[in-house]
Amino acid sequence: MFGKIIGTGSYVPERVVTNTCLEQYVDTNDEWIRERTGIARRHVMEQETTKDMAVLAAKRALEMAAVAPEEIDMIIVSTLSSDIALPSTACYVQDKLNAKNAVCFDLNAACTGFILAYNTVQTYMAAGFCKTALIIGAEGLSKLVDWSDRGTCILFADGAGAAIVRADETAVFDTVMHADGGQGDALTMKTGFAERVRGIDVEPGVEVLEANQNILNEKDTYIGMDGQAVFRFAVKQVPTCILELMEKCGIKEEDIDLFLLHQANERIVKSIVKRIKTSMDKVPMNLQEYGNTSSASVPILLDEMVRQEKLKKGDRVIMAGFGAGLTWCASYLEF
Ligand code: ACO
Repeated sequence: MFGKIIGTGSYVPERVVTNTCLEQYVDTNDEWIRERTGIARRHVMEQETTKDMAVLAAKRALEMAAVAPEEIDMIIVSTLSSDIALPSTACYVQDKLNAKNAVCFDLNAACTGFILAYNTVQTYMAAGFCKTALIIGAEGLSKLVDWSDRGTCILFADGAGAAIVRADETAVFDTVMHADGGQGDALTMKTGFAERVRGIDVEPGVEVLEANQNILNEKDTYIGMDGQAVFRFAVKQVPTCILELMEKCGIKEEDIDLFLLHQANERIVKSIVKRIKTSMDKVPMNLQEYGNTSSASVPILLDEMVRQEKLKKGDRVIMAGFGAGLTWCASYLEF
């Protein structure tokens, strides 16, 4: 038995940074950013942390689902921007919610992560290992961005989205998932490695460690991106993946009510729309307001669609994510 989404929630920081505001930091302008990305504003953490945004989004999802925390038996948080390495953000969320019956773990698949968390829960449900799960995409990317790099700082932002999935005999689910580690250099951040090397008190093997340390420079500790490579990858692989999924499920474009795509760039979204031969009416966008929030983007959009009553019971949906790894995937569900 698979599961159905029975509640959603999201949280974005209050603080808004406009394109014009970014002109103070880098050589850019509002017109360039809107034209090339579609982004007008983004929300950026001040007092918030990734894990607290995750908790706030989760509380809203629990409230909508009318589910008590102790009913949750699995919590998965998708994040590449955890505030701390240990314990996991999922365990932190469990504690704050008092969801004491849940098994908890984090998952990092960058912008594809929320959908892979959804798929993971579906697989556990099908195997009978969980009944009521909380999945969250939470990202504090503003702390990982080099604010002097105009190629990245204009894109990324902060937020969290969550969903409650409950086992249901009528639930429908299918997916297509891919990864290509050979293209990993297109989107990187090597901080973890740098911090580890710096923290070691070297005695034996000192030469090796010093050599490793020299591989890294300050830029490696921020998100680095070959924008054009990511763009080419996304406009080719994401539509192919969605078409592969539709063929696998025996469904056509007209059978789908909504396509919820990762919110990276308006031009990427429009290119996907063209290639899967659908219309923009079925492909909502909120990147104008939030920028690219990585694995939080699909659940924030999902929550907006539910709360605006644009996504209703019985609607058929394809969610698709793509990002660092490189990774990409599409999943089919009936809401
Ligand atoms: N403001 C003004 N000019 C800029 C800026 C900026 N912020 N950034 C780059 N430029 C300049 C470049 O220096 C270049 O100038 P030149 O012609 O004098 O050399 C010119 O604009 C064109 O640069 P390109 O890199 O070719 O610009 P492009 O049209 O490719 O747009 C962008 C760049 C927006 C990053 C685009 O490549 C893109 O969106 N790629 C996909 C990125 C993405 O979506 N990443 C996330 C997906 S995965 C995930 O979400 C983690």
